[in-house]
Amino acid sequence: MLRVENLCKDYQMGGRTLRVLRGVTLSVQKGSMLGIEGPSGAGKSTLLHLMGILDTPTEGRVLYGSRNLAQLSGREQAYWRNKLFGFVFQFYHLLPDFSALENVALPALVSVALGSWGEGKKRALARARELLELVGLAERAEHRPGQLSGGERQRVAIARALVNAPEVLLCDEPTGNLDTQTGQSILELLCRLRDETGTTLVIVTHDPNIASRAEKKARLVDGRLVETA
Ligand SMILES: Nc1ncnc2c1ncn2[C@@H]1O[C@H](COP(=O)(O)OP(=O)(O)O)[C@@H](O)[C@H]1O
Ligand SMILES: [Mg+2]
Repeated sequence: MLRVENLCKDYQMGGRTLRVLRGVTLSVQKGSMLGIEGPSGAGKSTLLHLMGILDTPTEGRVLYGSRNLAQLSGREQAYWRNKLFGFVFQFYHLLPDFSALENVALPALVSVALGSWGEGKKRALARARELLELVGLAERAEHRPGQLSGGERQRVAIARALVNAPEVLLCDEPTGNLDTQTGQSILELLCRLRDETGTTLVIVTHDPNIASRAEKKARLVDGRLVETA
């Protein structure tokens, strides 16, 4: 289980303190889906980044099981971040000069030891190919991001997020840049992946379809949870 407790985040801006999260407590069960909604600027992305230890809270804890991830050293955080979390963003963040296959394989290549480079690379590419198949893009492996549609790019980004077999997939408005129908197919894909692999899903979204599929919903306004269901 992933749980955040009394999470606070301040940013220092020109000598002033901007309080972005004001004590958020929230948990998500293994294998379930949590939807987070709320107006722009409410702190949703900040919360998601803290959950995935991409950033450090000013106060509060990020618990995975009984381990407080927020308290670990940078090196340990990098280890757990790679092991536990996959990230999907609204604007895909794919590397434009690499093929779809290479984009998916990259996070797996990062952890290959130099001593076993040839073998490790082969394995990472094979795994990337499987994942492209899983997201319905086997025929697009050699395409670069610029040669793919928005929905296809997001599929590549989802496959990339899965390459290290994360326990939790953190998605920040994954359908926010897509038309309704394409967004719906991305949602179906995420739900199917969750059902097939047991991956926990945390999705920040304005999409009512996603919210309706989530077992648990949270609404964030001005850095505070105003309702959860
Ligand atoms: N790195 C940063 N430095 C300063 N302020 C930031 C930073 N990141 C976000 N903010 C501010 O924090 C608030 C919440 O941002 P964010 O979490 O991105 O909101 P949301 O994702 O809900 O739109 C916004 O007012 C934003 O301007
Ligand atoms: Mg955001």
